[in-house]
Amino acid sequence: MTPQEYNYLRDFLRSQSGLDLADDKRYLVEARLGPIARRAGIADLSALISALKLGGDVKLRTAVVEAMTTNESSFFRDRTPFDHYRNVIVPHFLEDRAMKREVKVWCAAASTGQEPYSLSIASREDGRLNGWRLNILATDLDETVIDRGKAGVYSQFEVQRGMPIQLLVKYFAQQGDMWELDTAIRNMVRWQKFNLLSSFAGLGRFDIIFCRNVLIYFDRQTKSEVLSRLADALEPDGYLVLGAAETVVGLSDRFEAQPNCRGLYRPLSRSAAGAQPAPPGLRTIGRVA
Ligand SMILES: C[S@@+](CC[C@H](N)C(=O)[O-])C[C@H]1O[C@@H](n2cnc3c(N)ncnc32)[C@H](O)[C@@H]1O
Repeated sequence: MTPQEYNYLRDFLRSQSGLDLADDKRYLVEARLGPIARRAGIADLSALISALKLGGDVKLRTAVVEAMTTNESSFFRDRTPFDHYRNVIVPHFLEDRAMKREVKVWCAAASTGQEPYSLSIASREDGRLNGWRLNILATDLDETVIDRGKAGVYSQFEVQRGMPIQLLVKYFAQQGDMWELDTAIRNMVRWQKFNLLSSFAGLGRFDIIFCRNVLIYFDRQTKSEVLSRLADALEPDGYLVLGAAETVVGLSDRFEAQPNCRGLYRPLSRSAAGAQPAPPGLRTIGRVA
């Protein structure tokens, strides 16, 4: 792979998924795209990049983008966001949605489902929203992880990472080496393929958005643009939950951090944020020529 080919691949990935591939990730590209080339009967990475340049093979383009995403997840990951959910977010909506009895949640990069299902289980266990309409939308760019999420079947290793034993036996059934999630918990989550670089217009508004451990892969501009659209997709009294290594600081003035609640933000009104309306040319998903 020549430096020009590597640069083409970087531009391609940035335009398709937002991934900001650093200069020193050639080993990662080779490890992840080598098998894609072999499976497609393509001789090497140079030939794979030439095929991408031709642009016609949607399956190949998708396989390349999906192979380069990191799908790492775990149940109740980092714990704190789920404490915020129980101690701050649910109490707020118990009061503020008492008439409507409906809460809309979006897990915006849900990978294989551990995050939305942790929320469903946390809600069930908490019990205060029982009898309410709790709509959880789980989206991801990668159809392979969505299929796994929909199936709700996890390995011993995956459930051991974060699922407390008493919840494991309560909400999962063992099938050989695997653990299958209870249908009622699975049915609380609706799945949709969705790219965060595309327009959010069709998704509606949410009370709570979990967007964790995906912005870290984007460049500054993409982070800012996605955060701005997340602000628009939140109800004015909604909550945004980011990952442990993510922040809005220096990227968006559309949110205020919640005191003593790391990773938890609320939207500011446009006038309070001093924000201009979104520019007409706001960058959304595009193709590399
Ligand atoms: C590291 S996982 C995070 C999963 C979960 N949110 C968590 O924190 O455990 C990142 C996920 O973001 C998805 N992703 C990457 N780029 C995306 C994009 N542009 N739009 C939507 N999802 C994307 C990947 O497919 C991957 O499943």
